[in-house]
Amino acid sequence: MENILGSAASASKTVLITGVSRGLGKALALELAKRGHTVIGCSRSLDKLSSLQSELASVSSENNKDNKHLIMDTDVRSNTSVEELARAVVENKAVPDIIVNNAGTINRNNRIWEVPVDEFDTVIDINIKGTANVLRHFIPIMIENKQGILVNMSSGWGRSAAAQVAPYCASKWAVEGLTRAVAKELPAGLAIVALSPGVINTEMLQSCFGNSASLYPTPESWAPKAANMILNLTVADNGASLTV
Ligand SMILES: NC(=O)c1ccc[n+]([C@@H]2O[C@H](COP(=O)([O-])OP(=O)(O)OC[C@H]3O[C@@H](n4cnc5c(N)ncnc54)[C@H](OP(=O)(O)O)[C@@H]3O)[C@@H](O)[C@H]2O)c1
Repeated sequence: MENILGSAASASKTVLITGVSRGLGKALALELAKRGHTVIGCSRSLDKLSSLQSELASVSSENNKDNKHLIMDTDVRSNTSVEELARAVVENKAVPDIIVNNAGTINRNNRIWEVPVDEFDTVIDINIKGTANVLRHFIPIMIENKQGILVNMSSGWGRSAAAQVAPYCASKWAVEGLTRAVAKELPAGLAIVALSPGVINTEMLQSCFGNSASLYPTPESWAPKAANMILNLTVADNGASLTV
């Protein structure tokens, strides 16, 4: 399959993914490592991160076995933690070719006037400000490197709306707007897109869909198609709103 995707997709790349402890981020990290790419990953659950580190090492393809994946305990809500991650990446000479701003959360199903203040803030802090923290510290590194593709994980609910998830919808519409605006700021060689992953059975989907989440595809079956799309993005995609 990889052969027909062309050299851009088959050359070994360094891909930074936020939110790799479970769900889409974890499945994408393992899929990319399996294809010989180097993964830089972060999230907050230390125990899950250490088991991911071993899983990444075991799935890494033969030709990439010397590559060191870099997994860090980073909360994207913290500007200083993301700054430390960026410093570690530069020190390890692991400047990403692609960044996937995947870390995200959703409010528990509730009408807006029933959503606790803290929960609204958490959705905004992770989904919007967390994404902005990564852009703030990594775009200058990519500019220095004269190339880079940024993927902001959006949602169907970043382009449509539903009851009970207003904070989440607001945050993902913001991600779409942020992406389009930043696309106008990037210099040649860089591109940024908003990517809706589709509807996939993860803990997040179980939170909003309940038992019917099990009717949807698994992250593992989603990851190959998502990886193909992400690896094939080019500067011509700058500013696009795409769907896996
Ligand atoms: N699943 C779907 O159908 C669907 C549909 C549309 C859009 N999306 C988007 O796809 C992305 C992934 O969703 P998912 O379904 O895989 O969700 P998930 O299963 O809940 O996983 C979310 C990931 O984000 C990490 N994360 C959350 N807060 C973080 C923080 N402050 N700092 C660092 N990492 C953090 C979590 O790790 P820790 O908790 O360990 O930090 C976890 O690894 C999200 O942006 C979501 O909005 C998903």
